[in-house]
Amino acid sequence: MKLFSPLPLRSRTLPNRIVVPAMVTRLSGEDGCVNDGIRERYARFAKGGAGLVVVEAMAVHQAKSGPLLRIGGNEFVPGLRSLAQAMHDAGPGLAFPQIIHFLKISRSGWRQKVSDLTIDEVRAIPGLYAAAATRALEAGFDGVELHMAHAYTLSSFLSRLNSRRDEYGGSLERRLRLPLETVAAVRAAVGEAVPVGLRFDGEECVKGGYTLEDSRVIALRLAQAGVDYISVSAGGKFEDAMPREGQPLYPYTGYSGERCMPGRTYQPAANAYLAAGIRAFLRSYGVQTPVAAAGKINTPDLAESLLQREEADLIAMARPLLADPDWPRKVQAGRWGNVIRCCYANVCKAKDEHFQTVTCFLWPKGATQAPESTDEAPPRWPKGGAVLSAQAADGRIQLRWSPAEDPEGVYGYDIWRNGERIDAVPSAVTMYHDGAAVSGIRYTYWVEAYDMGGNRSGATNQVEIELSSQLEA
Ligand SMILES: Cc1cc2nc3c(=O)[nH]c(=O)nc-3n(C[C@H](O)[C@H](O)[C@H](O)COP(=O)(O)O)c2cc1C
Repeated sequence: MKLFSPLPLRSRTLPNRIVVPAMVTRLSGEDGCVNDGIRERYARFAKGGAGLVVVEAMAVHQAKSGPLLRIGGNEFVPGLRSLAQAMHDAGPGLAFPQIIHFLKISRSGWRQKVSDLTIDEVRAIPGLYAAAATRALEAGFDGVELHMAHAYTLSSFLSRLNSRRDEYGGSLERRLRLPLETVAAVRAAVGEAVPVGLRFDGEECVKGGYTLEDSRVIALRLAQAGVDYISVSAGGKFEDAMPREGQPLYPYTGYSGERCMPGRTYQPAANAYLAAGIRAFLRSYGVQTPVAAAGKINTPDLAESLLQREEADLIAMARPLLADPDWPRKVQAGRWGNVIRCCYANVCKAKDEHFQTVTCFLWPKGATQAPESTDEAPPRWPKGGAVLSAQAADGRIQLRWSPAEDPEGVYGYDIWRNGERIDAVPSAVTMYHDGAAVSGIRYTYWVEAYDMGGNRSGATNQVEIELSSQLEA
């Protein structure tokens, strides 16, 4: 599979095309220091075999921000060094921190805009990134990723909603100025051998924001400036965030937030067209910079097809690898059937929003890290069988089944409808409501139990059912 082919980035080589994109964990304290929980989380990702693990956004500047990692001073280097070391000890992939600058927000709902910054404040930003990148190298990371996506400073400079009237706002050329100065400063600081990646939005997904028309040009200019990969995200803006009394704005609560972390209602690979459009544009200018796609890419077939169709060079999977960090290792060993599969319930996103430790809805209750297991024995259905039943009521279909048994404990159940896995529920739940079924279609359901090793029980009995039409009722 192309997914498991290496990709050189300057003096380094990614062992495969799978990326854990940055994902805030809320495991750090307000001091922004690396702790055991952080080391454990990222060593676990590295152990799972991803080619690149990008450590969650860490602040390049000294600003109050709640539980978020920091890289804005030399005092953070020893902790970061222990993190890079733990990641390198655990797995073959490269480790990059994502480095971020953000503006001030307050509980009153006020937020600082790029137009509020003095020219001196603007001009200081590239230097902050360069110093942070230098610290990342001192700490032993393999490279850095510059955060220019979502609601944060460099993204807001790139935005079509950047209302500065000086040389840093207005036309696209001027909106690009600070990001380009930042890339140049970082490159000068780290030298030619070190890979410098970039993450930005392929589309802002807010009214008046930019779309692929601008983003492909932005990508081209940043690639020409020497970034080594372009990781394409979407949305995640303040402009459409929902205000909540007494809480600072969280930029993933509006439509643009949904587009950034597309939930259950979105189609697979919902944002892949952005990476594909950007990649095609770069190639049409003879620029070979690798492009990473993200957003509801979960199955090996889907990931591989994006690579084979040359719509992406790297596949970033955040929530799927949170659900099962061993996804790469298992898939490479031909054990896709043993992967614990994300159901995009976005409980992780809600935890991030409320500054709670980011965990996966599918993990065992109370767990702060993904469980590990060497068990190979699959769960079994009880003696009397799973007795899956289906009932139509209130315009939806309700499934019920008997709990499966496993010496190590059942971990969860996958729900299948007409040959498609539609959802998963944790082991405590032995019922499911399908609110997306409609009359006029005959549905066949079955359920599979899985344990922590991802061993699966095999299907329950199949049940067939049709909703009666409301018009007949
Ligand atoms: C809890 C959580 C935290 C995230 N934190 C970051 C972050 O720090 N930086 C970033 O660029 N993206 C962040 N993201 C976005 C992901 O990297 C990713 O682009 C998004 O979840 C879509 O990919 P997926 O469908 O594979 O999860 C975060 C996503 C989640 C769910």
